Amino acid sequence: PTIFVITPTYARLVQKAELTRMSQTFLHVPQLHWIVVEDSPRRTPLVAELLRKSGLTYTHLHVATAKERKLQEGDPSWLKPRGVEQRNEGLRWLREDRRDQNQQGVVYFADDDNTYSLQLFEEMRNTQRVSVWPVGLVGGMKYESPVVEGGKVVRFHTGWRPNRPFPMDMAGFAVSLKLVLADPKACFDGEAPMGFLESSFLKGLVTLDELEPKAENCTKVLVWHTRTEKPKMKREDAMQSQGLGSDPAVEV
Ligand code: UGA
Ligand code: MN
Repeated sequence: PTIFVITPTYARLVQKAELTRMSQTFLHVPQLHWIVVEDSPRRTPLVAELLRKSGLTYTHLHVATAKERKLQEGDPSWLKPRGVEQRNEGLRWLREDRRDQNQQGVVYFADDDNTYSLQLFEEMRNTQRVSVWPVGLVGGMKYESPVVEGGKVVRFHTGWRPNRPFPMDMAGFAVSLKLVLADPKACFDGEAPMGFLESSFLKGLVTLDELEPKAENCTKVLVWHTRTEKPKMKREDAMQSQGLGSDPAVEV
């Protein structure tokens, strides 16, 4: 089965670095189709060129997050969910615009800043409904994970709001394409309370009992919720005010 990876992304100083790292991971994964959805009113040349040169099979989409939904400068990052409209646009493309009729596939939501082991993709490739695994460095913990007993997920190891229907990070599950197509309304709810975004999508699709544990019964960490520090531009700003700023023609 093909793995359809849906990645929301937005313009910022580290975007090209993030997408370069990610694309070069994906080059090592067979049968992967990268659906990149820009949080932007139009496709940007930076992302278009990066994809064109990447050597990957990809689809380049865009949708701008509605202004009232978007984080403003200075807002704490947890205030509003991120990447919601973009993931939903990726789902819409799979359902409405995808050309090939093959229903064999797996859908994975991969944020542009995380770190992905190649083994992860082979773990998820045979997902029947929804497969799950641990995510490292998330939720203020070394890892969060489904807890498996007798080959079944029975609860979750998480330090935060354990009573959420599916207390998992976005990086911790994949869904079969068949299931995504079978329930054309399943999508992410941007109005979901903090931490309930993943649950808003999964709760109509699957039950706890049906989850398929991967990564050796959820004992191996194959994906890390890394976050990239925002680079400081103190020197750049100082140089710029002296007319010595970096050449704007050099793409970073
Ligand atoms: C955590 C989860 O890992 C995300 O899957 C979840 O969407 C997010 O919280 C949330 O609460 O919404 P975190 O590292 O805090 O992730 O979020 P980011 O990595 O900053 O953003 C998630 C994705 O959305 C990234 O791929 C990012 O490029 C994209 N994004 C972010 C946008 O498309 N637009 C934005 O304005 C911000
Ligand atoms: Mn992130």
